[in-house]
Amino acid sequence: MALSLVGMWKHPAHYDDMGHLVVRDLEQIDPGNIVAPFEVKRVYCLYGSSGARGNHAHRKLEQIVTCPVGSCTIDMVNRERRWSVRLDHPTQGLYIGPGTWRVLRDFSPDCVLVVLASEPYDESDYIRDPDEFMKSIRELPALP
Ligand code: TYD
Repeated sequence: MALSLVGMWKHPAHYDDMGHLVVRDLEQIDPGNIVAPFEVKRVYCLYGSSGARGNHAHRKLEQIVTCPVGSCTIDMVNRERRWSVRLDHPTQGLYIGPGTWRVLRDFSPDCVLVVLASEPYDESDYIRDPDEFMKSIRELPALP
């Protein structure tokens, strides 16, 4: 399993009398301590969500989660940290690396999430069993 990382950064927005325009230039992301941007191979959208969803980790997949409309909370845990983020602005971008359990919850009724993913859909990349996930992060070597 690759190094687990999560991170959030703000994308630039251009404003003029026509409104706001948010840019996501994947070649120029500077997320501080986050690994290099990935080649986007899949884009998907979540809307009409209620309750909680997610409840899984990925073995290899990297994702950038954006919330162009509405808001939601994403709870994450990996071998580095536990983290909770409220996505509530189109300029935000949340990077979720491999080996990160995530739960998406508290969706506003209008919430739309757009997710950029590094790989095509592959069910075998999912870890859906929390016990298997906890075992997988315990078996990783300690971080330096
Ligand atoms: P899933 O990733 O399990 O969503 P969540 O964890 O948020 O509930 O996906 C839900 C369903 O959609 C599941 O049956 C797999 C399917 N799916 C695809 O077929 N292709 C995709 O790219 C994604 C993300 C999901």
